[in-house]
Amino acid sequence: MYIPNELVDRVIESNDIVDIIGTNVQLTRRGANYVGLCPFHNEKTPSFFVSRERQMYKCFGCGKAGGVITFLCEYENLTFIEALKELADKAGIKLPEEDDSVQARQEKKVKDGILEVNKEAATYYFKMLRSEKGQQAYKYLTDRGLSRDTINNFGLGFAGKTGGGLYEYLKSKGFSDELLKQTGLFSFNERGVLDKFWNRVMFPIMDSRGKVIAFGGRIMSEAKDAPKYLNSPETKAFVKGRNLYGYYLAKHTHEDHILLCEGYMDTIALHQAGFNNAVASLGTALTPDQAMLIARIAKKVVITYDQDQAGRNAALRAIPILKDKGISVSVLEMTPYKDPDEFIKNLGADEYRKRIEAAKEAFFFEAETLHTTVEDSVDSKTKFDHEIARKIASIDDPLERSNYINAVSKKYDIDKKALIDTVNKYGLEAENIKLARETHERIVQQRNKMVKPEDGQQLAEKLLVSMLANEKRLFAKSKGLVGAQDFTDPMCSRLYEIVFDLYGDGREIELAKIVNRFDDAEEQTQVAEILEPSMYREKYGEKELDAAFADVVRRVLTNSIEAKMAQATADNDAEALMDLMTRMKKIDDVHKKLTEPNR
Ligand code: GTP
Ligand code: MN
Repeated sequence: MYIPNELVDRVIESNDIVDIIGTNVQLTRRGANYVGLCPFHNEKTPSFFVSRERQMYKCFGCGKAGGVITFLCEYENLTFIEALKELADKAGIKLPEEDDSVQARQEKKVKDGILEVNKEAATYYFKMLRSEKGQQAYKYLTDRGLSRDTINNFGLGFAGKTGGGLYEYLKSKGFSDELLKQTGLFSFNERGVLDKFWNRVMFPIMDSRGKVIAFGGRIMSEAKDAPKYLNSPETKAFVKGRNLYGYYLAKHTHEDHILLCEGYMDTIALHQAGFNNAVASLGTALTPDQAMLIARIAKKVVITYDQDQAGRNAALRAIPILKDKGISVSVLEMTPYKDPDEFIKNLGADEYRKRIEAAKEAFFFEAETLHTTVEDSVDSKTKFDHEIARKIASIDDPLERSNYINAVSKKYDIDKKALIDTVNKYGLEAENIKLARETHERIVQQRNKMVKPEDGQQLAEKLLVSMLANEKRLFAKSKGLVGAQDFTDPMCSRLYEIVFDLYGDGREIELAKIVNRFDDAEEQTQVAEILEPSMYREKYGEKELDAAFADVVRRVLTNSIEAKMAQATADNDAEALMDLMTRMKKIDDVHKKLTEPNR
């Protein structure tokens, strides 16, 4: 959809970035800025800055930067248009109807179309379950202990005894084959169209906003020749590993912890027992994206995976992924039962709650699992002790380290002094590795910063355009002396035009407006980086700024005119050459004018 820049600007103006980010990230005021823990990477000390004045954010840890729209795009995983819509809605601004770049528009259309179809499909399955034809399926669910409310809350359904019904239903609603092909709900082949799901109870999978993005279907027998669960394939609306079953419901509970289980039935059973903070990773290994989703709503996770070896292994794999996002993790025991569903059915919600309280810290879960592999030999025990020491050494907090040392030395009969020494040894190693890596990174960074001669021009142009965008005074001063044609870098040239355009309105510029004239997220980040004023404000004080500006202008003009002269010489274009020589001569005048006081 084409949205005029003025409208985008209006949407940006009507939403304060501090408010928008503030509802998702805890910000505290520091001078003119607000700071908080970066939502895009895991950190313990805040390096995420939000500026109300400039309506921009920047993380000095991971480098993510942008305006209010960029933030929503990145944080909520939205497209530019989706983010704009959300902000426009908030401000009560009406956007014109669709019509964007062909590709973006097409993708959005397909995604929306799939969501639309999914909604209808969910309705179809839902009704089918409650119809005469769904009696057996309904009984299956109630036999498994699900109440009527639970079945409704999760929007459970039934796919119909044989295939075909859904396709006809959706066709009657007017959906095209082309769209239906992309929903993953059918297989189209030479014999016709087959429903992917039939004779299964259906579990709609929702995203964090409550939209149905996919389905799981469970067979109602213990048939060996068909998979127990069948899931939608990935589509434009469904990327596996980027969502969690039950998340939409769990998101609103505001508990300090999340219960992480394996499956559909576990999630549902837990919710039914009053644990609305349960989510499932749905049989696949937990991904960092899923961990990030959890980190957004809770600081703690209690893993309640199946009690079998597969479940234990999955827990061992999930622990570091969760910890990496700053989540503290514990693991819940359900013995003698296999999973939350079975446990609650047999012992009830109160007993389960006790198990939550008794859940083992991940560290001890890992240690115990490791301990089961220890054989009856000194060698094997020593190896175990080393593993434990290495684990403790990886803990940052010295008090926490010391507590683990105390606990572990008693529990596993390890000499405390020797354990401390070994932990320190591994700690030192880890420290050295970290130090070496940081030094290496710094060297690489510095090397990247070291400007190659041909990059000098680009850097000067970036600096110039950033100064112009941020300092209205300098822009006014250089009017008529600098133009878009003086930039050799296309991005800088375009930025100059935008800056010119915006100041033309006689208003102050919010950098976010410039950023948002670019559709591509990568370009947006690039632009935000170029325009970030710390690039020059750190270098030059207020008094030196004018002189620095004059120098930068001279540098940019000289280089661009030289480049053009080279081109004119190659083209044998005498006229252009003359013109350029005149301009070259004037550069010193320009410089002088810019350094004159009170121009
Ligand atoms: P019930 O057996 O009905 O109690 O379901 P459950 O959720 O307890 O299933 P289970 O513990 O066996 O598996 C956990 C999750 O793994 C399920 O909820 C599914 O998401 C997934 N899963 C299990 N079996 C299959 C399968 O055959 N195919 C696929 N694609 N996924 C499966
Ligand atoms: Mn299970």
